[in-house]
Order: sequence, then structure tokens, then C-alpha cells
Amino acid sequence: LLINVVQLTATTVVLLHMYWPLGLVVAAASAPIVWLSMRFEKRYVVISRRVQDEQGDLATYAEEGAVGIRVIKSFGRSEHVSAGYERAADRLHATSMEKVRLSARFWTFLEVIPNVAVVIVLALGAYGVGRGSLTPGELVAFITLLLSLVWPVSSLGVILAMAQEAMTASARILEIFDTEPSIVGGDRRIDAPRGHVRFEAVDFAFPDTPDTPVLAGLDLDIAPGETVALVGATGSGKTVLTALVPRLWDVTGGRVTLDGVDVRELELEHLRSLVATAFEDPTLFSMSARENLTLGRADATDAEIDEALQIAQAQFVHDLPWGLDTRIGEQGMALSGGQRQRLALARAVLTRPTVLVLDDTLSALDVHTEKLVEEALRRVLADTTGIVVAHRASTVLLADKVALLQGGRITHVDQHSELLATVPAYRELLAAEAEPDPSGPSGTGVPEGVSA
Ligand SMILES: Nc1ncnc2c1ncn2[C@@H]1O[C@H](COP(=O)(O)OP(=O)(O)O)[C@@H](O)[C@H]1O
Ligand SMILES: [Mg+2]
Repeated sequence: LLINVVQLTATTVVLLHMYWPLGLVVAAASAPIVWLSMRFEKRYVVISRRVQDEQGDLATYAEEGAVGIRVIKSFGRSEHVSAGYERAADRLHATSMEKVRLSARFWTFLEVIPNVAVVIVLALGAYGVGRGSLTPGELVAFITLLLSLVWPVSSLGVILAMAQEAMTASARILEIFDTEPSIVGGDRRIDAPRGHVRFEAVDFAFPDTPDTPVLAGLDLDIAPGETVALVGATGSGKTVLTALVPRLWDVTGGRVTLDGVDVRELELEHLRSLVATAFEDPTLFSMSARENLTLGRADATDAEIDEALQIAQAQFVHDLPWGLDTRIGEQGMALSGGQRQRLALARAVLTRPTVLVLDDTLSALDVHTEKLVEEALRRVLADTTGIVVAHRASTVLLADKVALLQGGRITHVDQHSELLATVPAYRELLAAEAEPDPSGPSGTGVPEGVSA
């Protein structure tokens, strides 16, 4: 762009100097070029942004289709989904053609205008030579110089289009880079963490639904080393509550404290090294089993990994084709839901957190495995503060006490048996389990003392 502009100005000045009437013709030709370029820029920036956005939409379609292929097939919706993809592809095609048409028109003018200037200069120059105000040699020199301008002008179109596209692409990237993180850590650290977690009058609402709070005036005190089972209906805010401790979300009112320090005052990395969460829907990365396990603690030894695997009943890892070095996750070995949950649990346990959060981590395990996991977990939880989201009576029994989440608040904190006897809502939530429990046969087939 720079070289073209310099060449255009310098040559025009030289031409004006050589024979000013013809030089004026050349200078005049630049007016429509500048005007056209500006119009083109304005429209091109809009349309090239549209093309890039639509390319993004199309890529999303393709990715979702590939990732969700099982769901799509099982509902017999291949036609529907591929029709959606085709619509997006057609839209992109139409917009791209519009873009091509726009640049084709612009580039045509960039070819035509300098060549028309050459024709006019040739005609007027011949007339000038005839009248004797210009020598034929001067005219040839003039035309030669003028011809050297044709290429810089017509290539201007390509350069401007490329510059526009780079600018819109940068704008898309900068939109992301410029996002201010809303969760910023403080600078405090806890030297000897004990794991005293307190929720004090906590309010929480999602940013896009500020009028419907998920949590409102919630209080909960979890003593160091204590384990609380969190019970509540689906959608009552259990996951949100657990996410407030490592600050995956921030409270909108009240505060959450760890050993008396507001979590917002703590260094973010420090806080998150103290609190480990095993999620209900665990994400495993396309790395080896070992790398997945040591995500939260890269320096864990093999013995420690083994212990964590044993606690989570995830010894199946050793039976994978390459043991701990087997690649798992998205592009590796496919694991079942229960296996993934157990790996996620082992990953959380391995970090030896001060506060261990299990968000429905055991939901995909069969009763037998769950029992084994719980026996082992009980040892871990003995000196770790635990928040265990639970749906089954058997999971609830892991905890020292049970907190019932209803209507955005903790309405009851008590022993499982007490709640079962006195709170109808609690009874309903755990009904399926609570009924057959005392009769005993649920334990059949499970060898006693298996954990020993
Ligand atoms: N990212 C989100 N944006 C808006 N609302 C959400 C979001 N995640 C969850 N919710 C809503 O917050 C409520 C509590 O969700 P959650 O804590 O996941 O429930 P659960 O108790 O089943 O774990 C639900 O009503 C859910 O619809
Ligand atoms: Mg949940």
C-alpha cells in the first residue's frame, strides 16, 4: 500500500512537471479512484465481517454434528441436521458471492479508469504534438510513465480488500482479548489452611437473569474437616452453590469465606489449589490417563496416583492397553460415564485439597462400586472439608450432616435420620432410596468387608 501510494504521487508530480495540461488529466483521474475506494471500503468491511461470522456459524454446525452424531442418529434427525447445515452453507455461499461481486465491480473500475486516462492522454497528446506544443519524444516519455501507473492502481483493489479482511479478523479476535475477566483474584494467601467454609447471607443470580435469583440469603457453616451432604431438587442451585467456593462464579450478595477470609480476597490460583471439584459431567482431555490425573498436581508420584485410583475405584486404568499412558478423552479411548466419573474423582482426590467438592460425582456408579468408593472416600474426607452433592441415601451417609437446599436457601441442617423423620420434603427427595433401605436386601451380592 505504501509503495503504491508513493509511486502514484511521485509519478503524478513528475507528469504534472513534464506537461501540466496532460498531468492534470492524470491527476483528475485519481479523484474517482479515491471516491470509489472509500465507498468500497465502507461496504466491504460490512460484508467481509458477515462472511467471517457465517463461516464461524457453519463451522459450529459441522462441529456439533460431528460431536453429537450419536444423539442425532438415535433420534433419526440426520436429514434435519444436514438441512440446517445446508441452509447455513447456502447463506455463506450467497454472502460470499455478494462479496465477490462487490470486489469484481471495484476491481473493474480500477482497471478501466487508468486505461481511459491513457486513451485521453494519447488523444490530447497527439493533438498537442500536431499543434507543436509538445514533441513526440515528450509524449512517448509521458505515456511510458503513465503506463507504469496502471498496475499500482489496479493492485490497490487487492491490497485494500486484504487489509479490510485482516482488520475485520483482528476485530473478531480483539473482541475476545479485550474482554475484562469479571473474576479477579486478590493477593491474600492462607498459610495453614484448615478448611472452614462459611456461606454468609449469600445471594446469587446469573448475569442474564438478574431478577430470578438462584440463591437468596443462604447461610451454611462447614467446620474444618467436616463433610456436608447437599440435598436439593434438580435445578435448585446445588452446582451453583459449590461453584461459589472456588469462584467459578462470584456471589452477587453476601460472601463466602474460607478460614474467615472472603474468597474474593485470596489469590485465585491459591484458592483453586485449596479447593478441588469433581464434576458430575467430568471433562477428560485428549492426553494420557496419567496427564489427566495429575492435572491439578503435576508432581504426584506413582504411589500417590495408585492410592487415588484405589480410592476412586478406578484401577481399570491399569487394564487399559497402555496402562497409565493410554490416551483418553476426546480423541483417545472412549470411557463409560462411570469410568469418567471415577477418573475425575481420582483427579480431585490426588490434589489433596483442603476442601473437596463432589458435585454428584458418584451418580453414574452402580451401587456396588459406589459403596467401595464411599468406604475409601470416608478416609479421605476424615480430615478434609467436604461438600458432597447427593441424590441417594447411600451417598448422604458419607457426610457428618445434611443440608437441605430449598428455594435458594438452606432450610435444614441436621442428621440424615432426623431429616428423614421430620422433614417431608427431604423424605420425598430421597424417597426411592429411603424406603427399601432398612429392609436390608440392597446389600445382597456385595461381599462384606470388601474394602478391607
Ligand atoms: N449458565 C447459566 N445461566 C443461566 N442460568 C443457569 C446457568 N446454569 C444454571 N442455571 C440455572 O440455575 C439454576 C440452578 O442450577 P444448578 O445449580 O445447576 O442446579 P442443580 O441443583 O441441579 O445442580 C437452574 O434453574 C438453572 O436453570
Ligand atoms: Mg447440578
